Amino acid sequence: MLPRRTLTPLPAAVCSPIEWTVDASLASSVLSLHGVVALRRPLSPDVCERWVKGTYGARASWTADFGDDQFSLGRAFYTHLEQDRTAAYFRDAATSDARVEQHAPGLQSAMHALAVTVTGGQVRARRGWCGPGIHVFPAHGHVATHGGVVHFDTEGLTEHHLSRGARALSVVCMLQPPSVGGGLRVWDVLYEGDDHPEDDDLETESVMAVYEVGDVVVFDSYRLHQIQPFGGEQDRISVTVHLAEVDDGHWESWF
Ligand SMILES: [Fe+2]
Repeated sequence: MLPRRTLTPLPAAVCSPIEWTVDASLASSVLSLHGVVALRRPLSPDVCERWVKGTYGARASWTADFGDDQFSLGRAFYTHLEQDRTAAYFRDAATSDARVEQHAPGLQSAMHALAVTVTGGQVRARRGWCGPGIHVFPAHGHVATHGGVVHFDTEGLTEHHLSRGARALSVVCMLQPPSVGGGLRVWDVLYEGDDHPEDDDLETESVMAVYEVGDVVVFDSYRLHQIQPFGGEQDRISVTVHLAEVDDGHWESWF
């Protein structure tokens, strides 16, 4: 796979703020209509704060990715794929889950419950893969100053899944937003077999989700998206789980 490239974000003129909903039970229908849904605070700030504390307490067990551009508690598949480290990802899967549970107890089961709600289906952990985990993007780090890579979340999808265009979702929960910026921009552009977006893809309409603590954004994994640059002294800390519908109403999850 070719490395993903960073593109300069466009002016906000074509970008509108996302509408937040408080009713997670609407997620499934909003998702099929718009490909993205933003849920206001399905996780309580107290719980998020505990998990943030646990994450910092586990600093010695973080996985560093792309130099020290970003870190995770638990292993993320895409970072390992892009750094040719998938053997480490699979070798460490069970331990990765144990680390997350030790330092952020209840996080994986909360993400599972959320996945069940937003899919309206049955969800099981993908066998041998790492379950939901935490990303830490440091204040003043590369993502803070440049924004994340503009990309699709297709890394964990099989060729068979991609060729059928079977459904796939990405779920991101914000545990600690940065003090300024760091939202998620989602474009009205779908994956069509090429990992690299065209420049004019970025001129299409987009929505911007600026998270508060406990907010969740769920989007079609085939949809182009990017973490926006951010400022302030606070690291951006979020949880991710990826979901793929492997049979009608049956989903698999991984990090
Ligand atoms: Fe992504």
